Amino acid sequence: MDRSVALIRLLADGELHSGEAIARHLGLTRAAVWKALGKASERFGLELEAVRGQGYRLRQPLELLDEGALLESLDAAARGRIARLELHPEIDSTNSHLMREAARGAPSGLVALAERQSAGRGRRGREWVSPFGVNLYLSMLWRYPLAPAALGGASLAVGAVVAEVLSAAGAEGIALKWPNDLLWRRRKLAGLLLEVAGESQGPSHLVVGLGLNLDMAQAQGKTIDQPWCALTETGARIGRNALAAHLIAALGEALELYGRRGLEPFVERWAHFDALRGEPVRLLLGERCIEGVHAGIASDGALLLDTAEGRRAFQAGEVSLRSLG
Ligand code: BTN
Repeated sequence: MDRSVALIRLLADGELHSGEAIARHLGLTRAAVWKALGKASERFGLELEAVRGQGYRLRQPLELLDEGALLESLDAAARGRIARLELHPEIDSTNSHLMREAARGAPSGLVALAERQSAGRGRRGREWVSPFGVNLYLSMLWRYPLAPAALGGASLAVGAVVAEVLSAAGAEGIALKWPNDLLWRRRKLAGLLLEVAGESQGPSHLVVGLGLNLDMAQAQGKTIDQPWCALTETGARIGRNALAAHLIAALGEALELYGRRGLEPFVERWAHFDALRGEPVRLLLGERCIEGVHAGIASDGALLLDTAEGRRAFQAGEVSLRSLG
């Protein structure tokens, strides 16, 4: 473990730690502690507080990712679906990492989580704001004998199970905006980025990436260009490691089921959280824009829209959906 990570692990409890104790813990001289604190706080964007004569503490305690705690919350079936669990203090993007690993032959069921992403990616080439220790950045690799084209519906399947996990954790009023934005009170709580590669007739592999705002402060999310919220606002009461474990279990189960039965078992589950059904909406297709009433989703996951010309279906990837309500 590098020194900055070891230091943040020590301070994560939010308690005061004397310079002497920190020096001892890190094997540093007393004089080098101040420099190490500055380095760690700058690298991870964390605010440290010095209390004269007493020591140092993190301004906000953190529940860091912990393999033991995470595995403890997974039952045997869920563990059986995970090939390997990786916890990274920082990484460019857990999705980019798993796409690289997949190309090198990594097994189905590889899971990567990070405390921070330096180049977190959202849909449509956007940045995903990924500060240290306060959110979840989680990716899972799954391999299929299927053609990449058969994996189009997986994004809805995954959206439905993430909504279920958050609701079960006590978040009231979780909603899905097609294809897979997770909203609470019309603000973005989480997003999914699914990436697929493979041979045109199969096999193929899928990387599912979930970014979930858990306890991010307003200042940390100030560059986000849309209304957003964090899980702590929703009434959910669950620790970061326990939630990560529940999500990993649900994703593994959903990805396996999708391979056997496709989207069919998830359509009703998705519809249960549909945020905009029955509402007037606008679809943006590049330069074009179509208005109509959101009529739910079809069995293949397409968005159904009642327009002046009748009911039309749109596939995810080609359009962006806006509420007019
Ligand atoms: C969206 O735009 O709504 C999708 C956001 C997906 C973000 C997650 S965070 C973990 C994984 N790694 C990434 O770089 N992106 C996804």
